[in-house]
Amino acid sequence: MTALLKVQHLETYYGHIHALKGIDIEVRPGQLVTIIGANGSGKTTTMKTLIGVIKPKRGKIVYDSLDITGLSPHLIVARGMVLVPEGRAILTRMTVLENLQMGAFVRKDESVGADLEKMLNRFPILRQRWDQKAGTLSGGQQQMLAIARGLMARPKLLLLDEPSMGLAPMVVSEVIDIIREIRNSGVSVLLVEQNVRQALAISDYTYVLETGKVILQGNSDVLINDPRVKDSYLGGDRPYNG
Ligand SMILES: Nc1ncnc2c1ncn2[C@@H]1O[C@H](COP(=O)(O)OP(=O)(O)O)[C@@H](O)[C@H]1O
Ligand SMILES: [Mg+2]
Repeated sequence: MTALLKVQHLETYYGHIHALKGIDIEVRPGQLVTIIGANGSGKTTTMKTLIGVIKPKRGKIVYDSLDITGLSPHLIVARGMVLVPEGRAILTRMTVLENLQMGAFVRKDESVGADLEKMLNRFPILRQRWDQKAGTLSGGQQQMLAIARGLMARPKLLLLDEPSMGLAPMVVSEVIDIIREIRNSGVSVLLVEQNVRQALAISDYTYVLETGKVILQGNSDVLINDPRVKDSYLGGDRPYNG
């Protein structure tokens, strides 16, 4: 099967800091692929480079049969690759509805209104709060809004950068469930997560980053039992406590 996203030897710098040192990643249509790795390993830089916020120094990004390397973010989003960034970046002074509408700004089709309605059905809490300022929502609700805003762009490939960051364990599970539903609805997902056990449990394939390189990769159900993943990312044999 041809990959929906094929990243070849991606290298990204911040000035002299060599943040990505040649990364290869693939997402096939319908797959949920996870990237894990310690803080500073290059996960966010990977996402930002893919979506075009940072230009890579070397390497190639092919998405949906098109070389998008160096393309501006809005052109990439218009082609259906959408990033829900680390820290959510919702517009706290705007209402829930306005945030959702912002998500559709690249679209030119007629069904934005119908999709808004669908989104409010999918996230009932957002319907309840539709006219409130987004800043009044809880952390979990803001994350739901950020994901819903991303979906309003009608992604083929949704990039999620640590969607569970800072959330209580119960809310983390809700977010994980939503990500699984999104994949089941036919949207391919590239997920960066620190809740490794839960992310691997719902994903097909996993990449492990360390200092800007992929040091390990494989099917998630295999990697979850790999001693290297267990020791470094699953807290050894201690029981999982969120
Ligand atoms: N804006 C920046 N300027 C300089 N260095 C940065 C910047 N953002 C990230 N870095 C560095 O790049 C590396 C990768 O960071 P990042 O992609 O944010 O990691 P992660 O998301 O895995 O925690 C780190 O060493 C970090 O310090
Ligand atoms: Mg990060």
